[in-house]
Amino acid sequence: MTPFAARIGRTRPAATFAMAARARALRAAGHNVISLAIGEPDLPTPPHVIEAAHRAALAGDTRYPPIAGTEALRAAVATKFSHDQGRAVSAKDVLITNGGKQAIFNAVMALIEPGDAVIIPAPCWAGYIQVVEFAGGVPVFVPCPAAAGFRLDAGALEAAITPRTKLLLLNYPNNPSGAIADTPMLAGVATVLRRHPQVMVISDDIYEHLIFEGDHHTLATATPDLVNRILTMSGVSKSYAMTGWRLGFCTGPADWLAAMTLVQGTATAGVSTISQAAAVAALEGPQDLLAERRTMYRHRRDLVIAALATAPGLACSRPEGAFYAFPSVTGLLGRTSPAGRPLYTDDDVAGALLDEALVATVPGSAFAMTGHIRLSTAAADPILTEATGRIVRFCEGVQ
Ligand SMILES: Cc1ncc(COP(=O)(O)O)c(C=O)c1O
Repeated sequence: MTPFAARIGRTRPAATFAMAARARALRAAGHNVISLAIGEPDLPTPPHVIEAAHRAALAGDTRYPPIAGTEALRAAVATKFSHDQGRAVSAKDVLITNGGKQAIFNAVMALIEPGDAVIIPAPCWAGYIQVVEFAGGVPVFVPCPAAAGFRLDAGALEAAITPRTKLLLLNYPNNPSGAIADTPMLAGVATVLRRHPQVMVISDDIYEHLIFEGDHHTLATATPDLVNRILTMSGVSKSYAMTGWRLGFCTGPADWLAAMTLVQGTATAGVSTISQAAAVAALEGPQDLLAERRTMYRHRRDLVIAALATAPGLACSRPEGAFYAFPSVTGLLGRTSPAGRPLYTDDDVAGALLDEALVATVPGSAFAMTGHIRLSTAAADPILTEATGRIVRFCEGVQ
């Protein structure tokens, strides 16, 4: 056996991709599977964005990029952050990354020593657990249950902080719950953070444009006195349907960004120039598509929530943002599936739903909150209608 580094033993493939792979295998075997496992827009990248990439390539924008990003894109992102945060953010305060995921990777690798504690409100995106464990950090989950609107309680945050705590990971709108941050929550979090100056924050705003009720609130805007401890990241993947272009960005304290740029320079020679040209077009081009797509995703959310409300054993709160539903399945546990399989856990429910109802979902255990399953609502109406119909029939058949 090759003696791989210990960090390889600490990481594992994301459950979302594992479920999607199981769905693909069933489909290849001739089954009519619907996969709601992966969270990505089903819509095309806007044509003007693709045209900008094409033009850039033809114009010879095909050499190694600056590691931190092209001047044009850093300037466009700086304009966006200046507008969002109501303060002057300049191009040198911006790092362009290979997807939002690499912004988080760079930030964690730059900051976390083995044994450092990282507070993660749960449920959370599975990618956080992966990267924190890869760096040797210790994820400390703070449960944010459905009854609390999946929002972070300041008292629970305070109780979780120890002298080893180095980082807090915030993500609103949240994957998988769809919860958004509100002003009282951010004020409570800020009060706690002021008492613990050693704790840095990553604010993952990747779903910032997918908000169905209310406005987007983010920590850096709510608490200008804390901006030198907050890394705010986002990207074009979800907002502009550009997951495959691998383009994320962030702003934060200069020393943290410099350390992250070193990590990025160690791992890659920066981000594809073609994707960066495309992202400039996305950010500087017409923005009406954001509102149009938001309306469409809201309609899909409503369709899914209404259908799931009729499923015996499921209880689904109304996501305020992102494109997921995260129903509780506890009403099905301790019972048996229509084909007679015992349902002890959310993993059992997701497994039985895939094998018996041919719908791929992801168990809540992958998001550090058992007793739930996650469905992506980023699919066309007929697909969502068929998938939720299958789920309802499955639940009706549970004994
Ligand atoms: C909460 C959250 N953060 C970050 C990402 C990564 O985004 P990207 O595709 O830009 O790397 C995702 C993708 O699923 C996500 O759900």
